[in-house]
Amino acid sequence: MRGKYKAVEVSAPGVLRVVERPVSEPGAGQVRIRVEACGICHTDAATVTGAYPGLTLPRVPGHEVIGRIEALGPGVSRWKIGQRVGVGLIAGEDGVCEPCRRGDAVNCQNPVVSGVTVDGGYAEVMIAEARGIASIPDELSSAEAAPLLCAGVTTYNALRNAGLRAGDLVAVQGVGGLGHLGIQFARRMGFRTVAIGRGREKEKLAKDLGAHLYIDAAVEDAAAALQRMGGARAILATGTSGDAMGRLVAGLAARGKLIVVGAPEDQIQLSAIPLIFGGRSIYGSLTGTPIDSEDTLAFSVLENIRPMIEAAPLEQAADAYARMMEGKARFRIVLVTLASPTDKSA
Ligand SMILES: NC(=O)c1ccc[n+]([C@@H]2O[C@H](COP(=O)([O-])OP(=O)(O)OC[C@H]3O[C@@H](n4cnc5c(N)ncnc54)[C@H](OP(=O)(O)O)[C@@H]3O)[C@@H](O)[C@H]2O)c1
Ligand SMILES: [Zn+2]
Ligand SMILES: [Zn+2]
Repeated sequence: MRGKYKAVEVSAPGVLRVVERPVSEPGAGQVRIRVEACGICHTDAATVTGAYPGLTLPRVPGHEVIGRIEALGPGVSRWKIGQRVGVGLIAGEDGVCEPCRRGDAVNCQNPVVSGVTVDGGYAEVMIAEARGIASIPDELSSAEAAPLLCAGVTTYNALRNAGLRAGDLVAVQGVGGLGHLGIQFARRMGFRTVAIGRGREKEKLAKDLGAHLYIDAAVEDAAAALQRMGGARAILATGTSGDAMGRLVAGLAARGKLIVVGAPEDQIQLSAIPLIFGGRSIYGSLTGTPIDSEDTLAFSVLENIRPMIEAAPLEQAADAYARMMEGKARFRIVLVTLASPTDKSA
């Protein structure tokens, strides 16, 4: 199908504007997707501000993309026209760098990054690498599935790969797009789940999402509160403050892990003492691969986990993005481009 499609591009740092572009054919190994929904992730800020390393403008942001394949490029055999698929942040590995050769595709040194190296999903149409897409189960509407492609897989993978055991005390810091899914995953994975937010307003929401306990970091020392509970085996840090993250180390149990998924602009300050005495550790975790996304979607269907979303039309992307940056989204704004038959929320 030729013609034009609408997209929202960053034309200059800080400027999101609606444009029309000509529809192009997918190249070898690519598919063209008619986008139905795209979540607005905080990481989109790195595209909007122009800060993402290697970014060139104009660029269409968006890496929580759900849509239907409408054209297949040469050599694509695994996917079918009409199939509903999703695209996340890391949307194609080069297959030849050292991490790739060691089977660690998410840490590819030359990846295709949606909304950064290629145009993303704030658009009616997106071209994606066939090796970088995930299949979407029928049980999820497109708007519901979208946040699972980044916020979902990032928190699900970080928790499932942390070597935790059922009943462990696990804290999720930040009750936002990532955090509100992290709380649900932690609870359904069988952990004693503590949400750490700022302000009492989020307490009920966090408990409704499955948190056993809530710490209001605006009025109490979160690390001290975690120590009173026995110390956390893991803290999944999704917040955007490095200062707040560093202070959480003191809330870990011996051998506890601070898993950094939030990407603050400020530095994380650490004292070596709790790391040495008690063998605590801190490390980062980057989203996941397309098959990790499929696992996230399957677990979400299995355990009835859904993001809390606010739908917005593509044309309102700039306002929606601003709302997210102000911390007002509850909890993910999803640009709904085209309501799918399974879409209840659009
Ligand atoms: N590692 C990865 O692969 C990956 C993937 C996706 C996103 N990210 C990063 O993860 C972070 C969160 O993304 P998101 O989409 O969830 O963002 P979001 O929906 O905008 O939520 C922002 C979160 O940051 C917290 N926060 C803001 N200011 C804070 C402060 N001063 N102290 C403590 N917490 C603060 C908020 O916590 P309250 O609940 O207390 O308000 C909220 O939970 C971003 O940095 C994003 O770039 C990383
Ligand atoms: Zn993201
Ligand atoms: Zn690679």
